[in-house]
Amino acid sequence: VIAFFQKKVLAGKKVLITAGPTYEAIDPVRGITNKSSGKMGFAIARAAIEAGANVQLIAGPCHINTPLEFTGQVQRINVTSAQEMHAAVMKHLDADVFFAVAAVADWSVKNIKDEKIKKADSSSPSLEFVINPDILADVAKAAAKNSKPYCVGFAAETNDLEKHGQEKLVRKNIPMLVANIGPDTFGLDENQLLIIEQSGNKKTPKLNKLALSRELIQLVSTKI
Ligand code: CTP
Ligand code: CA
Repeated sequence: VIAFFQKKVLAGKKVLITAGPTYEAIDPVRGITNKSSGKMGFAIARAAIEAGANVQLIAGPCHINTPLEFTGQVQRINVTSAQEMHAAVMKHLDADVFFAVAAVADWSVKNIKDEKIKKADSSSPSLEFVINPDILADVAKAAAKNSKPYCVGFAAETNDLEKHGQEKLVRKNIPMLVANIGPDTFGLDENQLLIIEQSGNKKTPKLNKLALSRELIQLVSTKI
């Protein structure tokens, strides 16, 4: 497996990856999360290690073993909330490439309760939300100053994939956005991607997530 890349196209490079969902607490026993399985982010981590990179894998709550741990090329940092993920990522802005694969919660709960909310307390609790930091946009801001990391965003949309994808590329000021050609690929082993760059779009075949990740790593290695 390690021999997949005949030439280690990311030898000596630092690759930063966010993967999985985040979890936003409501009270000590309840929270809000999403359908991300972490499979795509972990597959990219594996492919990056195969290609010779040193990988910082910032993982939200997901039950996947760290890939190729025995190589010593991967450091996994487990986080829970979007705020924690943001803080962990900002420590590694010296990376050469950033893959923002995590499905980051857009909002966190403002009025998190210290104790479990009891059914008897009220008819039903009301939640207030605050917007979370945009991790990818913040890394892209740093990249605009330091000329690295090369930022790759991911997107899962329910409609108007090309339009929303292109808008995100511009809004987040990133050179590449990878959009899932859905409808719903969460948790599946296979996926088909639309790779959006300023120069144009290309569609991959439907492949398993590791094969797609190897293609992406190969492509990104030509950009840095
Ligand atoms: N992302 C991030 N931090 C956030 C939200 C998103 O780093 N707080 C990253 C994701 O990891 C992904 C990309 O931004 O790589 C696009 O995420 P997406 O949720 O599709 O975009 P949003 O800007 O949040 O827009 P919306 O959810 O409204 O479509
Ligand atoms: Ca979002």
